[in-house]
Amino acid sequence: MAAPEIGRLVDAATGAMKRAHAPYSSFRVGAALEARDGSVFAGCNVENASAPAGICAERGAVAAAVAAGARQFSRIMIVTEAPAPTPPCGVCRQVLSEIAPGIEVISRTIGGAEARWPLAELLPHPFTAASLGRA
Ligand code: THU
Repeated sequence: MAAPEIGRLVDAATGAMKRAHAPYSSFRVGAALEARDGSVFAGCNVENASAPAGICAERGAVAAAVAAGARQFSRIMIVTEAPAPTPPCGVCRQVLSEIAPGIEVISRTIGGAEARWPLAELLPHPFTAASLGRA
């Protein structure tokens, strides 16, 4: 199936961002992970009074996708209210590199500013199953 238009990803990520639970940082993030069959899985950041228990939007989208059975991905859209497009954090880069290697990362502001990176450029030397000797 053809990949959905980028507008679908923007809409999914923006909708998730608006549902974020971010009372501590007030930094709402939405993400939409696109599978190669065209399906889209959204996530938002879900913070917690115990800060490390919070989770980023990108990993929420990964969890939703894996739970639905998707394992082949093409790109992820990130939407925030920041003044400039923000890249995913290091932990999310690591998770994406295992579950969605080779994807394109697209980040947008709600004003429409956009940045794009290949995931491999954001995390050029990931720790992998091969690093454990289990490739
Ligand atoms: N956050 C994300 O959801 N994704 C990122 O890529 C960067 C940071 C969240 C974590 C926390 O809830 C808030 O943004 C501020 O760091």
